[in-house]
Amino acid sequence: MESDPTLRRVRPTRVPGLWTAAAGLALASCGLLDSPATTLTPRSDFGWTSHRIFVQILRWDTAIFLVVQVLLLVAVFRFRERDPKAVPAQVRGNALLELVWTLIPAVILIFIAFPTVAAIFRTQTAPPKDAIRVKVVGHQWWWEFQYPDLGVVTASDLHIPAGRPVSLEIASTDVIHSFWVPQLGGKRDAIPGSMTRIVLTADAPGEYYGQCAEFCGASHANMRHLAVVDTPEAFAAWVAKQREPALTPPDGSPAAAGREVYRTGTCVGCHTVRGVSAGGIGPDLTHFGSRKTIAGGILPNTPENLARWVRHAPALKPGSLMPDQKLDEPEVTALVAYLQSLR
Ligand code: CUA
Repeated sequence: MESDPTLRRVRPTRVPGLWTAAAGLALASCGLLDSPATTLTPRSDFGWTSHRIFVQILRWDTAIFLVVQVLLLVAVFRFRERDPKAVPAQVRGNALLELVWTLIPAVILIFIAFPTVAAIFRTQTAPPKDAIRVKVVGHQWWWEFQYPDLGVVTASDLHIPAGRPVSLEIASTDVIHSFWVPQLGGKRDAIPGSMTRIVLTADAPGEYYGQCAEFCGASHANMRHLAVVDTPEAFAAWVAKQREPALTPPDGSPAAAGREVYRTGTCVGCHTVRGVSAGGIGPDLTHFGSRKTIAGGILPNTPENLARWVRHAPALKPGSLMPDQKLDEPEVTALVAYLQSLR
């Protein structure tokens, strides 16, 4: 057989795909510098469990890759075509070879399975007695966090203390979502009519980015949340504050005017402010002002963002559950002042 002369002339400069791939790899490595959705810097026992398996398998894979590449290079040079007419040794049907290259991958998979299955069992055990229970409820498109033993209900920001086990009991009211805070480990589906669980102990205080990880409709990409890991003292203070009734703004203040906008408008149809309204469908706003994020965790909780959200919430689309209520600008300003005062 005539060898193909074009193959001999191929240089890297003539393969644009190579450069694209190299540039892609180089850019992808920048993601390690500032990437909130990374599992490579775990901050909980669960996260470390997954990370250790990842690193272990990565080491094995690297060794296998090197062995295969060396064998490949040896084969390329040692068995390259010298005489176009020569027929190489035929190994088809060689039982020993077939056995070896079937058994080697099987053994590799067994080695991967041992730590993986052990970790699956370890991360599925019942929570310890002193674990803080948090019911994590997925909604289209926001997360609700209920602390049944502490009498706290909130949304978007999940507060947990560092150094204490937490049992996240995950469910959904509508479609399947998936709860995931990459640095804290886990990722469990939120399934209507069912409960999944993540038990973890966070290492250190900090704020960790979370993202719904199951396509759940038009705003799936906007369904985020923030896991705020507090010191035990800060967590106790947060719980105490969340248990207080909603603040009533002083008469005549802008917030008091906003409270009237809230109370007499359609907000009350969905939202709860304990002592003012009992909506039930939308996020509980009793301590809205104490949250770091709004709008399903996608925006920082600032007056500007809140005003934009109140004017043009995506849920105001025709046909949505949300009544199309147009507020004039003074009403928006007053409403923002009220909601931000609910600390
Ligand atoms: Cu909820 Cu995707």
